Amino acid sequence: MTLLSTTPRPLIAGNWKMNGLSTALDEARAIAAGLDRRPAAARVAIFPPATLLHRLGEAVEGSFVLVGGQDCHGAASGAHTGDISAQMVADAGGTMVIVGHSERRTDHGETCQQVAGKAQAALAAGLEPIICVGESLEQRQAGEAVSFVIGQLRNSLPDSLAGQAFDVAYEPLWAIGTGHVASVENIVEMHAAIRTELVARFGEQGRATPILYGGSVKPENAREILAAPEVGGALVGGASLKAKDFLAIVEAA
Ligand code: PGA
Repeated sequence: MTLLSTTPRPLIAGNWKMNGLSTALDEARAIAAGLDRRPAAARVAIFPPATLLHRLGEAVEGSFVLVGGQDCHGAASGAHTGDISAQMVADAGGTMVIVGHSERRTDHGETCQQVAGKAQAALAAGLEPIICVGESLEQRQAGEAVSFVIGQLRNSLPDSLAGQAFDVAYEPLWAIGTGHVASVENIVEMHAAIRTELVARFGEQGRATPILYGGSVKPENAREILAAPEVGGALVGGASLKAKDFLAIVEAA
């Protein structure tokens, strides 16, 4: 009983990135239908592009599928052309939001400070943020992976997360979309370091915060990754675009 309440169900999160037109709603319906046949041991969430958020929410309504945004602005509203606020994500039916994905950090120069502001905005809008961290290949080769990721984590998590539901996703940049999955040893080492930092920062709460792994998670490697110590779920890119593959990953949790 106590164990169950401190060990949340794993979260399998599908990050569709800049993929998906109206026709992709069929994949979301297929995911919802697949889960309805067999209620999952995991929480399942889809993060479609913002243009599909509302319609996807409607398409999976009444199912076990949660829906979230891929990013939000740190401000509640204002003159920020092209951005969307956390409140808008919530208004469109989202209950979660990804912040600090490496593609945002790289493509849009987002800093840890901005990411922390986004996480804070997410909480203010009642969303559960997934805060992403991860090192580059150069940093790993230089033996700086753990120190870099822990520094990034420290600066990307606002203090206001204390007492709130949130998740951390570890995504090594060299494993994203490359087919090169991190070794279980690499994952275990990093997740243990992240856990230590979360406990130091948030106490008991930090013991239960789900730490997701992301980077080339596929049906073939999901079981081994999800069984590793301190892996509380997966953030899945490419393999979340096809209902069959995504459901196979959910099954592995
Ligand atoms: P990938 O992407 O599964 O396609 O490697 C993961 C992510 O960036 O969230």
